Amino acid sequence: MLIDIIAGARPNFMKIAPVIRALDLNAKKGGKLSYRLVHTGQHYDKRMSGSFFEQLGIPEPHANLEVGSGTQGQQTAAILERYEALILQEAPDLCLVVGDVTSTMACAIAAKKLCIPVAHVEAGIRSGDMTMPEEINRMVTDSISDLFFTTSRSAGAYLQSIGMAEDRVHFVGNTMIDTLLYNFDRLREPAFLAEHRLQPGRYFVLTLHRPANVDNDDKFFELVEAVSAGARGLPVVFPVHPRTAKSLERMKAVPENIIQVDPQPYLEFIWLVKNAMAVITDSGGITEEATVLKVPCLTLRDTTERPETVEIGTNVLVGTDPNALGPVLDQLLDEGWKGSNVPELWDGRSAERIVAVLERMSSK
Ligand code: UD1
Repeated sequence: MLIDIIAGARPNFMKIAPVIRALDLNAKKGGKLSYRLVHTGQHYDKRMSGSFFEQLGIPEPHANLEVGSGTQGQQTAAILERYEALILQEAPDLCLVVGDVTSTMACAIAAKKLCIPVAHVEAGIRSGDMTMPEEINRMVTDSISDLFFTTSRSAGAYLQSIGMAEDRVHFVGNTMIDTLLYNFDRLREPAFLAEHRLQPGRYFVLTLHRPANVDNDDKFFELVEAVSAGARGLPVVFPVHPRTAKSLERMKAVPENIIQVDPQPYLEFIWLVKNAMAVITDSGGITEEATVLKVPCLTLRDTTERPETVEIGTNVLVGTDPNALGPVLDQLLDEGWKGSNVPELWDGRSAERIVAVLERMSSK
């Protein structure tokens, strides 16, 4: 059984690495699964893609569709056209997509229209916020997938509530956390720490990249000011996403305690989060990583598709009003943070479970 593994943008790479490792192990044991790794090229910078392949030991892709940047429509169209052409050259038996980026949705559509079954890893999660491109990607992908691998019981329950048969839904845990736990002993202190005289446990980490937070200058500048003020002079390390860099360049006076750095490679980024007082973010994946690392996480969004990070983990939804951040940071600095736990099956063995399901299927 030939499986196409699709990866396009940064958060995909952490999710496919353990699946590939588990497939390689399965093949060594005489299993029937083989794979073709397809990189859509949605992310192409070394800092957004290449460094993750190197650090996580992901093999060279068998195909790179090199779609590059563009509007949502342009990217979707280019991926659809190029992935379809690849399938027409050689059709896989299954297309495995992960997460919620544009590459996930576009490849699922291309495959399904050619009657190739689709498996979705991280299926069934919803924020309810239809202004996020990721929400549309999740809904479209799930609506045409054949097999669903979920990170929580509630995601599975949701899929069943919209009519997906129970035997197509597999609660396996979180492959992003597989990668975190696998690399836990290899984390690397970033070189800039000494340069900026930063001490472990005495800085915040900030990441912002959602269009809703960074594309409007006034809103974005207010958020950065609020983070700076709320941190009470403590340094805030800000690895700047390429999209955010464009907005930050237009900010006349970036507050002094905001330390801008390049997007970090995986091992350095997780080191930074692990040793931070707290992380302030609008990412979804980072809320999961902070939860497992037991680091307080303040999310600058009104909704989350990962409720377990709030209910069980270290995450708090602060919202996008810059005025809301100060009181939550006060609470952290003056009173400490809530207790937390690690969600069920986020144990480092999710990819193993996925491959076991696929191997069983291929033997039928
Ligand atoms: C995408 C995902 C988002 C994910 C994020 C992680 C979608 C809809 N969004 O958002 O869910 O959290 O990746 O980073 O798929 N750019 C570069 N170099 C690159 C890639 C992008 O400079 O290698 C710049 C380009 O100017 C591009 C912009 O970043 O236009 C945005 O990239 P894009 O892939 O459209 O979306 P992200 O904001 O990265």
